[in-house]
Amino acid sequence: MDYDIKDKALADSGRLRIEWAGQQMPVLKAIRSRFEKEQPLKGTRISACLHVTTETALLIQTLKSGGADVAICASNPLSTQDEVAASLVVNDNISVFAVKGEDDKRYYQHINAAIDRKPNITMDDGADVVSTLHDKRQDALPNVIGGTEETTTGVIRLKSMARDNVLKFPIIAVNDANTKHFFDNRYGTGQSTLDGIIRATNRLLAGSTFVVAGYGWCGRGLAMRAQGAGAKVVVTEIDPLKAIEAAMDGFDVMPMAEAARHGDIFCTVTGNKHVLRKEHFDVMKDGAIISNSGHFNVEINIGDLKKMAKSEREMRPFVQEYALPDGRRLYLLAEGRLVNLAAAEGHPSCVMDMSFANQALSAEYIVKNYKDLKKTVYSVPQEIDEKIASMKLDAMKIAIDKLTEEQRRYLASWQEGT
Ligand code: ADE
Repeated sequence: MDYDIKDKALADSGRLRIEWAGQQMPVLKAIRSRFEKEQPLKGTRISACLHVTTETALLIQTLKSGGADVAICASNPLSTQDEVAASLVVNDNISVFAVKGEDDKRYYQHINAAIDRKPNITMDDGADVVSTLHDKRQDALPNVIGGTEETTTGVIRLKSMARDNVLKFPIIAVNDANTKHFFDNRYGTGQSTLDGIIRATNRLLAGSTFVVAGYGWCGRGLAMRAQGAGAKVVVTEIDPLKAIEAAMDGFDVMPMAEAARHGDIFCTVTGNKHVLRKEHFDVMKDGAIISNSGHFNVEINIGDLKKMAKSEREMRPFVQEYALPDGRRLYLLAEGRLVNLAAAEGHPSCVMDMSFANQALSAEYIVKNYKDLKKTVYSVPQEIDEKIASMKLDAMKIAIDKLTEEQRRYLASWQEGT
């Protein structure tokens, strides 16, 4: 088995952390027990490119329990939990290619190492494996029967590949399942992003002005939680509908050119490029904190910051100071990469339970159905999404009502009015 990780000696602490996370992942646990018996992934090679966290380790163990031969590389250079990578290698015999802080060259070497395993199924978070396979590693394409995609940014990339008719195998968009984005993107990003900003800076949120760029599911969760922590929240948007929603949710909505003057803390969650740039840095307050929780490190124009600064220094881990000639200091967190995974631990296990249940069941679905699937992007089948919702609710020990016969008839009829 080959691997590239920081240090195998970290495996024991990794194992305990994985066990801790597992206590909050009952749905994945139930899937794992079934997989152990039924072996639905027997003989399937899966190459996953995911954030190497405790929750991901539990997904990888589940896939392995189902009979898959799994390799994993990191989906972001800063998100790997090195103890977890070590535990997967030492305790689970998994090929892991991930080191926290790896440079871009090593990051792509790791993606290529995962592709060298000639996967039948790809499991991406951001579509880097699929795009590398189509672009530079077409040698490995003939083995692939399908793939899954975890995140909004990846789904957007893959849908544009499908639109251009270049996608060479079917993809299941895990992100689009209701049991994924309603919870992971909203409550997961909301909590973990604040956690990352607070761990990195130890700044008080109460009374501060917190600017959230983008009011998708992640932005909604982040704005809600920042408000809960006492911040005055400002939202910026480009979509009129989302801007109305943010306004009616009680947030101030304004263009970034204006928000930039007011903000104490900024966080981008748009999925787009250069949302914060020179014109905004020019008017920010001294001490402003700038961060990103969108998938790629493109949302903040770091090149602009570097050009404007007369000096730079690392103030604390994950906090880089840019001193400007006029005396203002701006602070960039986690090199503009996902602050929730770089400076904290990503989303809590309780929401990742549903996201990764979707991953495991989508992999099983691909194995069963790949012959009938086209080379396009599919949603997670509704039965899978609903099944996961019911399993999670059961695990939360919450009971709900059932339709009566009379109500069922009423909903199905068009004759009955008042
Ligand atoms: N994405 C966001 N949070 C995550 C986590 N805890 N594990 C894996 N991927 C994630």
